[in-house]
Amino acid sequence: MKIYLIGFMGAGKTTVGLELARRLGIPFFDLDELIVSSEGMPIREIFAEKGEPHFRRREMDLLRSTQHLEHGVIATGGGTFTFEENIQFVLAHGLSVYIQAPISVLMRRIGEKAAERPMFRDEASLRELFQYRLRYYKMADITLDIREEESVAEITERMIMQLPKELFGALSRRPGHNG
Ligand code: S3P
Repeated sequence: MKIYLIGFMGAGKTTVGLELARRLGIPFFDLDELIVSSEGMPIREIFAEKGEPHFRRREMDLLRSTQHLEHGVIATGGGTFTFEENIQFVLAHGLSVYIQAPISVLMRRIGEKAAERPMFRDEASLRELFQYRLRYYKMADITLDIREEESVAEITERMIMQLPKELFGALSRRPGHNG
């Protein structure tokens, strides 16, 4: 079973994804990291030197390569689940969980790492982008609302409680797994 984490920049897809994978005992993949290692340069440089369309093509290719995984938690980038083909792919190949954080939290977190994020121009355009993307994020199978003061462990715990029970059956039927 594959779980795809969806959400805007700063939602915590990577940190929560790592913890979720650890708790479920399945591998973790971060789409942004896969792009960075396959291109050999940071995201900001990929955007600057090769352009956003190139980044989006790599993002789509690497997302598609996850279809061969049997089990995994995959943290997507903030833009991944806003393109029709990617949305259809994720809906067909796994369970999608939208991590919905208050916009004030997102803005603060994005601002802290603004230099790394090519999509960051100013707060007003970021808010606009968020509003536009919301329609796509809401297509995820599950929406998890997170609160500012919640820890990663608490968020992960609540996420696990919302996962369909059949999923745990699929995981425990893995060869060599006794649970
Ligand atoms: C992007 C979000 C980033 C990264 C790239 C583009 C976006 O991922 O994929 O900078 O379009 O929102 P995070 O959401 O992990 O920051």
